[in-house]
Amino acid sequence: MLTLRERPRSLTTGAARCIADLPQISMDSDHYASIGFLRSVQMAARKHGPVLNLRFDRDGNKVLLGEAGFGDAWRRHSRQLVKDVDDYPAPASLARMLLDNNLTTAREGAEWEDMRAQFAPLMRYKMHSYAEAVEAAAEQMIESLSRTDPDRPSLWSVCGTWSAQTVAHPVLGFSFTDDMVLDLVNALRQCMFHLVQESPGKDRAALLNDDQLLKMRARLGQLVHCAIRLCRPGDDTMVGHLLDLRGVPRGSEAAPEVVADLQPILIGALAATVHNNSLGMFWTMMKLAQHPQAAAAVAAEARQGKDAPWHLNTAPVALAAVREALRINPVLPFIERKATADLDLNGLSIPRGTTVVFSPWIVHRDPRDWPDPMNYDLTRFTNGERVDLTRWFPFGLGHRACIGSNLALNQIARSITLICDRLSLSIPRQTLASYWQPTYRVLLEPREDGGVLTAVPRP
Ligand code: HEM
Repeated sequence: MLTLRERPRSLTTGAARCIADLPQISMDSDHYASIGFLRSVQMAARKHGPVLNLRFDRDGNKVLLGEAGFGDAWRRHSRQLVKDVDDYPAPASLARMLLDNNLTTAREGAEWEDMRAQFAPLMRYKMHSYAEAVEAAAEQMIESLSRTDPDRPSLWSVCGTWSAQTVAHPVLGFSFTDDMVLDLVNALRQCMFHLVQESPGKDRAALLNDDQLLKMRARLGQLVHCAIRLCRPGDDTMVGHLLDLRGVPRGSEAAPEVVADLQPILIGALAATVHNNSLGMFWTMMKLAQHPQAAAAVAAEARQGKDAPWHLNTAPVALAAVREALRINPVLPFIERKATADLDLNGLSIPRGTTVVFSPWIVHRDPRDWPDPMNYDLTRFTNGERVDLTRWFPFGLGHRACIGSNLALNQIARSITLICDRLSLSIPRQTLASYWQPTYRVLLEPREDGGVLTAVPRP
């Protein structure tokens, strides 16, 4: 692997360039609907280089920054590269229609700072309820994976349940049945995808009255109402901490203004977590099933550390297994921002108002940064080198990077430690390769439902 000092050559070093100098790539929506957005961008980047002006027929221009060399500039200028939550139909503006003003969809400035300050103390894995929920969710995942009956759930659905269980109780404070959890996860995902699909043909006011959106929002309101009413003194949960902060007694009948105040925060936490975590878990499990030696290394680490309390620092192999899976399949493959000032990003002039897209999908698969990039190789992250966050950024970069990154790494690494300790995983021979092909539907999802894994007790 390259060391930090051997930074790869940047395409944009040397003479300053402007957008007009970049290859102009026409992104015809029918074309990319047929071969997939990921493949269209990847093919264009291979042919013309990773820094491109993508011209969408419906959605204006976006500058693709598919090179690690942009990482430092992105971080330095992150306050001037803002999330576009008001410009309909930018993805963040659609998410705001569904989830209101939560941390993910907050406007830059005071609104975001206030939300971030409320969230930060609640993101600790050590919060009793998080650690407890992860143990229970992993245990149930082991049970589901061990099933051999014809109706056993797909990996995709097992990971959805796992993810919802790791978060539902710590956030909302009461347990759901599996079916309810899965239903909620899928409904949120489908509703967001529905908004993305509907938005090109509808104006904002019409979409705000969309039947599916209204029903989903009403359902989320009821959920939060229940969470507030059922919150008990002593519950170490997000809803409990937020009620305490506001001086509202736990377990009281929820006043509408309290529901309205807490709904975006609680549902925002669920939405930001459930989808990302379930996909992070999915891609990690898939890689471990494909690479038995890596899974065996995770199991060996689990057995060695059995007598001491588990901690991420003492689980470098499990952590590497998650990091390497998120490198090859970053859950959020494109991170979009709007420039609020004229900027020089690593020698590329970006005029104010330009939409730029920094892409872990392209950077994480760049052979100049990651030799033999498609090879799942844990030594990339166990070689003692510090992780260079301009080449590996599945959690984003800059002031709006993921606030739950440490929590997510803990949750997934702890779960695969428990799973690999007990089960040997493999992919049934008849499974079609297409089951594991990622496709871009706002996040990086499996093309099919992920098929099933074979899991047998590890000797
Ligand atoms: C594998 C799991 C996860 C991945 C890959 C992931 C990825 C990301 C990425 C890439 C961003 C930046 C988005 C952008 O810049 O537009 C982000 C933001 C965010 N994530 Fe995560 N995330 C994960 C898990 C979590 C968890 C467990 C939580 C919380 C409990 C969480 C909460 C958030 C929030 C609230 C933001 C918005 C932060 C802000 O705007 O200040 N995420 N995540």
